[in-house]
Amino acid sequence: MKKYLTLQEAIEQGSGKVALQGWVYRERGSSKIKFLVLRDHTTILQCVVEKEKIGEKKFSLIDKIQIETSVRLEGTIKKDERAPTGYEVNVEDLEIVGIANEFPIQKDQSVEFLADNRHLWLRSRRMTAILKIRSTVFQAIDTYFRNNKFYLYHSPIFSPNNCEGGSTVFKVDYFGNEMFLTQSWQLYAEAGIFSLGNIYTIAPSFRAERSKTSRHLTEYWHAEMEMVWNTFEDVMHHAEGVLKFILKEVLDKHQEEFKILERDPKKLEPALKKPFIKMTYTDALKILKEKCKMDVEWGKDLRTLEEEKLTKLYDVPLLVTRYPKKIKAFYMKEDPENSEVVLGMDCLAPEGYGEIIGGSQREENAEEIEKRLREQGEDPSVYGWYLDLRKYGSVPHGGFGLGVERVITWICGLDNIKDAIPFPRTMFRFTP
Ligand code: 4AD
Ligand code: MG
Repeated sequence: MKKYLTLQEAIEQGSGKVALQGWVYRERGSSKIKFLVLRDHTTILQCVVEKEKIGEKKFSLIDKIQIETSVRLEGTIKKDERAPTGYEVNVEDLEIVGIANEFPIQKDQSVEFLADNRHLWLRSRRMTAILKIRSTVFQAIDTYFRNNKFYLYHSPIFSPNNCEGGSTVFKVDYFGNEMFLTQSWQLYAEAGIFSLGNIYTIAPSFRAERSKTSRHLTEYWHAEMEMVWNTFEDVMHHAEGVLKFILKEVLDKHQEEFKILERDPKKLEPALKKPFIKMTYTDALKILKEKCKMDVEWGKDLRTLEEEKLTKLYDVPLLVTRYPKKIKAFYMKEDPENSEVVLGMDCLAPEGYGEIIGGSQREENAEEIEKRLREQGEDPSVYGWYLDLRKYGSVPHGGFGLGVERVITWICGLDNIKDAIPFPRTMFRFTP
């Protein structure tokens, strides 16, 4: 069996014989010579096929090659300043592995067309770059929590309860019973801490979002953590910690990908090097009024537009704390110093990207939770098992959820969250 090199490995070898496999990324030529630029997951590499060298018969087959044909070839690699990645392969033999019909994706195609052809568009250098960064982001989250001695723990996806309110829940007919697709791992995680201590997960969450914003998916990957015996400060400490670790890993490994994406990695460096900025919700309203001329009534949630304006003022993420109780989830702990607000926080990414993490200290008192559930139109009896957790040795605990695609959108500087996941699901986009 021949040893095939990736295109990047061939470039690193730099001279001598190479055997390669890949897809035709670009092709041009004449009746005597053909330039095939190959691509694989590593890079692109120009290959030259001469009729004289390869023979009339093979050359006539190669002449018909279209973009995305898969090929295997052997040849000699050498430096060539004129070639797109600085090297060129002089082909000695070439085998067509899979022919390609005329590739539907050409230059300057509409966003909708690319979305309809997502299964093919994934091969673009842009999507390859984003998906490589995505892979590193998952790895970094996992490494961060394991390094900090958190255990991996799983919640069910089918849930009889909803964690983040009924308005964005997907109902499922579960053998005649009504169930929901989970919006968050959290409620079951609150049971897990009594067994494992500090825990984390990376799992899909579902939200029946009726919004058409550029930052909402109906199915997204949610990195969540839950701590025990902790303080609210600890939750914020790890929100900042995991984001800094993700940035460090991505900046270390993906300078090439940033070039392909035309994203300036310098814009991410402040978030890695400087401390995040902490402010209360009430302070955030003051800043919005003074610096952005935006008047938000105390008690109203920050909308996408307000988060965007606020975070454009900073080059590091913001940790906005102590939101009004009535706009936050039933499980958030009341601030002992002000019963109008909760010990909850949203981490907002700079440059206008907005909320990437939401978390809180959890309410420990069962009666308070029951009261809040009723106020939010929920039936506390469905939450019996959850309320039990407050009746058998309840302890201080808290955690957060990080929207993985939100973080990727910010890191890659994307216009739309849909490009942060291979096959996005939104209200209007659910194929392919
Ligand atoms: O703020 P959320 O709703 O918080 C929770 O679900 C908590 N139960 C988490 C916890 O404390 N364990 O969601 C957390 C994060 C948001 O900050 C956002 O980054 C992301 O999940 N998110 C979405 N990402 C993409 N599309 C959506 N529709 C999202 N909704 C939330
Ligand atoms: Mg939130």
